[in-house]
Amino acid sequence: MVEFSHIPVLLNEVIENLKIKEDGIYFDGTLGGGGHSEQILKRLGASGRLVATDQDREAIESTRNRLSEYADKLTIVKSNFVNIDTILKDLGINGLDGILLDLGVSSYQLDNKDRGFSYREDAPLDMRMDKDSGKTAEDIVNDYTEGDLTRIIREYGEDPFAARIAKAIVAAREKNRIMTTFQLNEVIKSALPEKVKRKAGHPAKQTYQAIRIELNHELEVLEQSLDKMIDLLNPGGRLCVITFHSLEDRIVKNIFKNAMNPCICPPEFPVCVCGRKSRGDVVTRKPIAPGEEELSINPRAKSSKLRVFEKKVGR
Ligand SMILES: C[S@@+](CC[C@H](N)C(=O)[O-])C[C@H]1O[C@@H](n2cnc3c(N)ncnc32)[C@H](O)[C@@H]1O
Repeated sequence: MVEFSHIPVLLNEVIENLKIKEDGIYFDGTLGGGGHSEQILKRLGASGRLVATDQDREAIESTRNRLSEYADKLTIVKSNFVNIDTILKDLGINGLDGILLDLGVSSYQLDNKDRGFSYREDAPLDMRMDKDSGKTAEDIVNDYTEGDLTRIIREYGEDPFAARIAKAIVAAREKNRIMTTFQLNEVIKSALPEKVKRKAGHPAKQTYQAIRIELNHELEVLEQSLDKMIDLLNPGGRLCVITFHSLEDRIVKNIFKNAMNPCICPPEFPVCVCGRKSRGDVVTRKPIAPGEEELSINPRAKSSKLRVFEKKVGR
């Protein structure tokens, strides 16, 4: 079995920005291997509390075990973080002093061949973060229309060869259902020009990103969560979000910007008449990126960016 290890990304920067109070209440929406959660828990006193979610049952079981010494301060819920409002309501919590989202898949999910996230391993096409949910990557690859495949590979994979890849998938599956990662890799490779295949980076990388985002509804979930999360922060509380690609980062940037300055009055109006009030400040005008030292020990941090929002005090 693959060991559940995950080096937390931008750890010092997250801890510094969360400004943890000993008696505060915190929420980690992406528990994973618990690297960030553990450092939050270490800084909490007897009355502090951390609520953590993950949609991956295997991650929860392993991390609950690993963090058992903090059981009196830690509540773990197997759920999607988009359900934050109902989770907190059920726990009788009205406000949070800090929230962390460290998006995407964990090293464990990537390295565990059977989960089907990696194009480097031959495995069934799965890619579900939540193995209790029904649909898999195999269903998307075999059941989506050519038009829908083109759209997701173009939008979520940002692959300029989306239409060629979608066409090749449809032609291949007419002969045989595409059931494994290596079968899919061969189809993708057959659709690409020689000079693209010779370029650095695996030719299937962008298509895999697209299928994973579509299957796990990653962008919709993020869009539906951030405003709710800002609402749930106590005055002065902070929301920290780590993203790994430009599509996620753009969503975080725009929602934070709009929460800070929601006014829709034309710029020539001398005073605001729309009545939309700022909910706080974007702490990171530019996203925080990992330093050289972190990159040298954790290549997974390469494309990470941290953005931080602070809830207004005195409202
Ligand atoms: C990058 S890992 C988090 C690693 C963690 N911060 C650590 O230090 O070990 C992301 C985790 O979040 C989970 N996840 C991703 N999106 C989620 C969502 N919408 N709701 C709940 N869990 C999610 C994944 O299953 C994965 O375990």
